[in-house]
Amino acid sequence: MRRLAIFGLGYVGREVASLALEREFDVVGIDTDPAVVESAREGETVRDGSSDRFEATTDGGSAVEDADGIVVTVPTPLDSSYSVDLSAIEGVADVIATGLSPDPRGTLVVLESTIPPGTVADIVVPRLQAAGYEIGDDVFLAHVPERIDPGNDEWLLAEIPRVAGARTDRGLERAVSFYDRLLDADIHPVSSTEVAAASKIIENAYRDINIAFVNEVALTLDELQIDASEALDAADTKPFGFTRFSPGAGVGGHCIPIDPYFLIERAASNGHNSRFLKAAREVNDRMPAYIAERTVDTLVRGGTLPQEATVLLLGKAFKPNVSDTRNSPYFGIRTKLESYHTSIETYDPTLPDESTVDSPYQEVDAVVLVTDHDEFRTLDLRRMSDSGVDILIDGRNVFSPEKARSAGLTYVGVGRS
Ligand SMILES: NC(=O)c1ccc[n+]([C@@H]2O[C@H](COP(=O)([O-])OP(=O)(O)OC[C@H]3O[C@@H](n4cnc5c(N)ncnc54)[C@H](O)[C@@H]3O)[C@@H](O)[C@H]2O)c1
Repeated sequence: MRRLAIFGLGYVGREVASLALEREFDVVGIDTDPAVVESAREGETVRDGSSDRFEATTDGGSAVEDADGIVVTVPTPLDSSYSVDLSAIEGVADVIATGLSPDPRGTLVVLESTIPPGTVADIVVPRLQAAGYEIGDDVFLAHVPERIDPGNDEWLLAEIPRVAGARTDRGLERAVSFYDRLLDADIHPVSSTEVAAASKIIENAYRDINIAFVNEVALTLDELQIDASEALDAADTKPFGFTRFSPGAGVGGHCIPIDPYFLIERAASNGHNSRFLKAAREVNDRMPAYIAERTVDTLVRGGTLPQEATVLLLGKAFKPNVSDTRNSPYFGIRTKLESYHTSIETYDPTLPDESTVDSPYQEVDAVVLVTDHDEFRTLDLRRMSDSGVDILIDGRNVFSPEKARSAGLTYVGVGRS
């Protein structure tokens, strides 16, 4: 395989394109957003994007015509009723069905986007078949769910093992050999695209459920005046059968708060109520409001009315050391505080244009740590207190309560006060 077409040049697609160029593929990136195409072409988002082995275009039809392999990394969000929106997958499948050469010689089409089980069979197969292609002969179809973790320097894309499922045995062989060349990691073949899709949702639902569990524990221990972090650390000394997750201000991003619904929805359409998955979503979605309420409560106890207070939110991104704000708990915390007419300032070192102040040291009534960016872990709490801050709400439990108190701050964490 020489020539690769990649649909979608967002967080995932740009990294796949960069790696494919590194591994000597000729790459054409396709995106419906002309600004995304432009920045990829300029080499701003795709490393080596300005090399003559890379093209970027909005015209998917001509890009797939002579592609040997096609990788699909388009978004699969939820709509306002928590139903998965597969319109981008449908759009790409239409473009591939009409754009492929009449004699495609076994083009490999891989979906990397996170999808509900059944998507390949229900959406992609019928479109290609209607265009006259035989799956497993003219075209091979596989699903290799993406596992990239932007901002994680320990696990780079090339090193993360992957799960591969396909429609046919030959399709699976083709997919495995493609990823063997693209990655340095093991590929775990499974019997179908449905198993591959389910495995991805299990991975993210597992995180969602475990985070919900420690959030629930933290809220309960808070009532009992037991320090949740200390109790979790103690439980974590068991050398088997326990994995420590951390309570926090909320779960954000494009995966964990979204993917469980892919299974919830499929289960519901088959008459099954996914109680456990729904409960985890409910608990985690409640956390931003909890943080805001603890902030207001602590302000009032200290003699400041919330409508007269200014609160500095540290971090707008949904996770540390990235600038991605999708579904960030920041928004829920902010909205809840604004319902009390509290004034808000924002500082995020990864988002200078979206920050209202240019340093974490401000004269405000309370500081709320929303995102545990590395820069925040080393904050000088004495300097914070000297700036005029009375209250520190630690939404990620990264500070020592004792140190915060000895710096002169009233400290409240998640399940520790
Ligand atoms: N970002 C991650 O860390 C991550 C990790 C694992 C899995 N995923 C999954 O990968 C998929 C992509 O995620 P992302 O974060 O890269 O999304 P993104 O929103 O950052 O990027 C998607 C890109 O696709 C483009 N696009 C939309 N419709 C298109 C179409 N019809 N044709 C061509 N381009 C189109 C958009 O303009 C955008 O640039 C999603 O299913 C997501 O759940 C993401």
